[in-house]
Amino acid sequence: MSESAIALTGLTKHYGKHVALTDLSLEVGRGEVFGFLGPNGAGKSTTIRILLDLIRPTAGEVRVLGADPRTTGPELRRRIGYLPGELAIEGRNTARELLRFLADRHGAVPGERIEELADLLDLDLSRKVGKMSKGNKQKVGIVAAFMHRPELLVLDEPTSGLDPLLQQRFLDLVKEAAGQGQTVFMSSHVLSEVQEVADRAVIMRAGELLGTENVEDLRRRSPREVELVFAEPVEAAEFAALPNLRDVIVEGSTLRCTTEGEVDALFKTAAKHRIESVLSTEPDLEAIFFSLYGR
Ligand SMILES: Nc1ncnc2c1ncn2[C@@H]1O[C@H](COP(=O)(O)OP(=O)(O)OP(=O)(O)O)[C@@H](O)[C@H]1O
Ligand SMILES: [Mg+2]
Repeated sequence: MSESAIALTGLTKHYGKHVALTDLSLEVGRGEVFGFLGPNGAGKSTTIRILLDLIRPTAGEVRVLGADPRTTGPELRRRIGYLPGELAIEGRNTARELLRFLADRHGAVPGERIEELADLLDLDLSRKVGKMSKGNKQKVGIVAAFMHRPELLVLDEPTSGLDPLLQQRFLDLVKEAAGQGQTVFMSSHVLSEVQEVADRAVIMRAGELLGTENVEDLRRRSPREVELVFAEPVEAAEFAALPNLRDVIVEGSTLRCTTEGEVDALFKTAAKHRIESVLSTEPDLEAIFFSLYGR
């Protein structure tokens, strides 16, 4: 048990009569990148706030880096980089001033580290934080979480508010952290970003754990929505019975379907026609749940 970065046993949280978490148990190993997936209201932020001892559980055991966050104070906090889900950064300070102030509290942050992270994220450190856009505040929060190279990064929806290029830079940062042996626990409602960086993921819904997944398996099994546009009209019947395919709809020369797993049969059949375009997208988490676990 002492080897794990995070160990939760029977974690339950009630807000008055509202049950936000029910009997959650999970273990994150040291050095692991762990995805914490779930739609709005699943209980992700509640769990994360309990890890940081910002709120207390109704029942259950919590170990973070081998310690109980309820009884270990600032020493534990310094070993963690935390990015809150609802980041509230206000004030007249510039990003540089704020980050230097936070860095001094951590100690051991080399001077160029803040500049290096800001460059990577295209963050202008001379701007006043209170006047920044949501996305730029998010970048300040990311720099603050990563700058002291903490043993454990706890990131609540870290890519929210970032444009796609910056989301990618952020994921690169996570990979770099993992390469240095840091543990990353990140919440998300986007399966694809978790698939890109995580080793394992859990999927939560309405305060309950639906399953722990090896990300490689998840990639193989998770559905995609595919749209193919042909040069001429096609018949739905030609595609309807193919393996790993469902919800086949044809309108004129456009085919829409959901794929699960290998798409070889779909593309070999499609290739009998002239293909003008292909679009493959990730369905939302609700549709993914349905596909993985049924209702
Ligand atoms: N302070 C609170 N008081 C009462 N209910 C709360 C409180 N905080 C959260 N909840 C409820 O607990 C449940 C879990 O909320 P939580 O914020 O943990 O979800 P989440 O998975 O982080 O969702 P999101 O993706 O929207 O951030 C929700 O039903 C939410 O309404
Ligand atoms: Mg949340």
